[in-house]
Amino acid sequence: LVAVFSHDPMHKIEDDDEQHGLSDQIVIKFSHVVAENTPKGLAAEKFADIIADRTDGKIKVEVFPNEIMYSDEKELNALKKGDVQMIAPSYSKMTEVIPEWQVLDLPFIFQDEQHVQNVYTGEVGKRLLGELESENIKGLALWGNGFKQMTSSRGALIEPEDFSGQRFRIMPSDTIAKQFELMGAIPKASSFNDVYIALEGNEFDGQENTISNIYSKGFYRLQKDMTVSNHGYLGYSVLMNAEFWNSLEPELQTQIQKAMDETTEWMLKESKKMNDSQLIRMKQNSKLKIHELSEAEKDRWRKVFMPLYETYSSEYGERWIEDIRNVR
Ligand code: LMR
Repeated sequence: LVAVFSHDPMHKIEDDDEQHGLSDQIVIKFSHVVAENTPKGLAAEKFADIIADRTDGKIKVEVFPNEIMYSDEKELNALKKGDVQMIAPSYSKMTEVIPEWQVLDLPFIFQDEQHVQNVYTGEVGKRLLGELESENIKGLALWGNGFKQMTSSRGALIEPEDFSGQRFRIMPSDTIAKQFELMGAIPKASSFNDVYIALEGNEFDGQENTISNIYSKGFYRLQKDMTVSNHGYLGYSVLMNAEFWNSLEPELQTQIQKAMDETTEWMLKESKKMNDSQLIRMKQNSKLKIHELSEAEKDRWRKVFMPLYETYSSEYGERWIEDIRNVR
């Protein structure tokens, strides 16, 4: 890795490639924060494979998982500076930059995976990504991991009152913070790769995340209860440094966008399968007590979360909420 870091980040030429006559190879460094065996980890690899194949090695995508290159907090800055060409942060983490994207964090805004896919890959998704232009970032796609579930080491989280006084790790998003406050809990944002140690050190009682993240990072080993609530959706904005994008020939841009669209379609289906199968594995192989929230219980959560919709509408209007709801 040391060798990789020391290379010119924009157009890195590998010694091997030089020997093989690929000295004009364009390298895209793609940094992300999750494990390799996750929807985002696998999608990043798939994208790299498609690109290598379609461009005959003209473009090489190098994937750096697990925050080995940049942490949650640092990756956006690294992208903007051009130290890395691609990242895929959760859109919740981007709400500090694009506050209107908080609509995507509203609890129960998405009906199911099909609804998510239709929003992400349709006209509304394109418009959401268009918001990045003002930030001088090229938005390539919205990717999905899955619906988020609640875990705790201090008892089952079934009724809203059960959250009272519990400390939860969250991603930095005002809407997510308010979601926990409305439940009487105490939210605190922290970097993804600090979560395990913080849970182990009893800094938090619980957290919300997808099955895939709870499983691949071993959070389930430190928590007693998990509620399958599907209350929110963890999605990603796949971002490219705009200057780098603009430096590419139109033909290469088209190939990148096509490879991205193919990857997105694949990963939205794959992520559901992965979360489903890892839930089964946790049921079989862990001591975690799992509760599936009933519709009546969900309704009681929905009621508590109503003010989030009112706050969002009063700040940003009804437009995005309606647009998302109207996608079928
Ligand atoms: C989290 O911080 O919990 C997630 O955004 C991690 C990820 O990228 O899936």
